[in-house]
Amino acid sequence: MALEDWGIKPVVPISDELFALWQGLIDARTGMTFTQTRRPFLEIALSTRMREIAINDYETYYEQLMAGASGEREWVILVDRLAVQETSFFRHASSYALVEQHLKAQLADPKTQALNLWSAGCSTGEEPYSLALLIEDLLHTTGRKSVFYGITATDISLPTLAKAKLGVYNERKLHGIPEQLKEQYFHLLANHRDWQISQSLKARIAFAQLNLMELEKAPFSDMDVIFCQNVLIYFRRFRKRDVVSHLASRLQLGGILVLGVGEMMDWQHPLLERIDYPDTLAYRRIA
Ligand SMILES: C[S@@+](CC[C@H](N)C(=O)[O-])C[C@H]1O[C@@H](n2cnc3c(N)ncnc32)[C@H](O)[C@@H]1O
Repeated sequence: MALEDWGIKPVVPISDELFALWQGLIDARTGMTFTQTRRPFLEIALSTRMREIAINDYETYYEQLMAGASGEREWVILVDRLAVQETSFFRHASSYALVEQHLKAQLADPKTQALNLWSAGCSTGEEPYSLALLIEDLLHTTGRKSVFYGITATDISLPTLAKAKLGVYNERKLHGIPEQLKEQYFHLLANHRDWQISQSLKARIAFAQLNLMELEKAPFSDMDVIFCQNVLIYFRRFRKRDVVSHLASRLQLGGILVLGVGEMMDWQHPLLERIDYPDTLAYRRIA
């Protein structure tokens, strides 16, 4: 039986010309690049959304997106569909170990009274909450409970940020979290399946919408740690460099920028030195 007989519309192949048009729009607005390999993903994301709003062709949908305020509202939904939101708690152990080492050294200095961190491209919140859990644990073990810390967590997608703010996760998602931290900072919800982050931890995180292509609008500076992983993988090389250079300028002297391993190749920056730590890609601000 054909898909149509089941009431399922097959994905309409996009022409080369329209693919280039969509590719250009998404790249310019978000930095996300849809190469030929990712063309089927783009086709599926666009046609699923078009079906929901009863539009039959890519051209009409494109025109609708360009149409003033309604186009802007539609863009918010589409961006969420186009982004890969995969994430997890303590996703890349070595990167967290490096952050721990860095913060421990800062806490050993009695002059340190505050720590400021930024999770750029925070998806559904697992990354900033992991950083908060790490710091809570560190403040406890170093006996420096009075040190203030704040985490800024940003993402381009508003629906994704709404999930992050809610801080509700299925039991399966909590496997990377040490048991004692889970007991202390999560509570089981009435459905006996999902856990919610404690209010005290949430209060440490300021979630905000921010497109990494518009970093000049971000009012953040003097960061001790900027964590930006698995966001720039789909960005073109020159855009990656622009974003990372800009992030570097938001670090305080001695602050560290932690990227995903392999996300930048043959790259140097006058403000930064590469940190030699196993299985990580990180830089320290030295100037
Ligand atoms: C794969 S997730 C990574 C989440 C987390 N950093 C991690 O490593 O687990 C990528 C996130 O980057 C966000 N993103 C993509 N393009 C962006 C942009 N131009 N500005 C800000 N966030 C963006 C997506 O919405 C998505 O939530």
